[in-house]
Amino acid sequence: MNQDQLKQAVAQAAVDHIAPHLNKDSIVGVGTGSTANCFIDALATIKHTFDAAVASSEATAQRLRDHGISVLELNSIQQLRFYVDGADESDQQLNLIKGGGAALTREKIVAAVADEFICIADESKLVNTLGSFPLPVEVIPMARSYVARKLVGLGGEPVWRQDVITDNGNYILDVHGLAITDPQGLESAINQITGVVTNGIFAMRSADLLLLGTPAGVKQLGHT
Ligand code: 5RP
Repeated sequence: MNQDQLKQAVAQAAVDHIAPHLNKDSIVGVGTGSTANCFIDALATIKHTFDAAVASSEATAQRLRDHGISVLELNSIQQLRFYVDGADESDQQLNLIKGGGAALTREKIVAAVADEFICIADESKLVNTLGSFPLPVEVIPMARSYVARKLVGLGGEPVWRQDVITDNGNYILDVHGLAITDPQGLESAINQITGVVTNGIFAMRSADLLLLGTPAGVKQLGHT
C-alpha cells in the first residue's frame, strides 16, 4: 500500500467510526490537509445521514461545499460530537504536532469544542518524541521578529514560512531543533509569548483516538 492508500484507509475507518452516531441534526468537525481531504471524500458518501460540517480552514470549507455538504460557522453551533483531522506527528500518548498546512489555530479551536477528537494518519506520523517535524507557530505579523528571538531562547531555530499567510491573516514560524519531552509545558510556554496566536502542539487538548494506517490494516491507539 502506498501512502495515499493508507490515508484513504484511515479516512474510511474514521467514517465507519462516526457513522453509527450520526443523525439528521449532527454536525461534523473537519480538519485540513491531504488526509483530511480523504476523509471529506469518504464523508461525502454518507452526507444524507447528517446535517452539516464545521471546517478548520477555507480550503476544507470549499472542498466540503464542492461535495454538497453544508458548512456552518462554529459560532452558530452549541455542540460538536466529532472532530476528525490529520497530524504531522503523534506520540504514543496522542500528543500531536499540527500546522503543516498552516491551519493550526482554527484546528485547535474546533478540536477544543469537539467532544471527541479523532486523529487520522499514516504510520509514518507516529514518533517516540515530538519535534522532528518543525513546530508551526502562528504569529501576529508585527511580532514575527520578537517571537522568533523568544523561540531561540527556548532552544529552537525558527524559520519564517515566507510564502504563507494564514486564513487569519498571520505568519507562520516553523521551529526546528526541538525535542519536545514536555508537550504540555512547551505548548503553554510558547503560547505565553506576546504576539503568538497559538502553536502546533496539541497536548492540552490531545487526540482521543488515533487511527493509524499501516500496510497490515488500520491500528487504533487511545479510546473513545
Ligand atoms: C494542517 C494540519 C494537517 O493535519 C497536517 O499538516 C497533516 O497533513 P497531511 O494529512 O497532509 O499529512 O495540521 O494544518
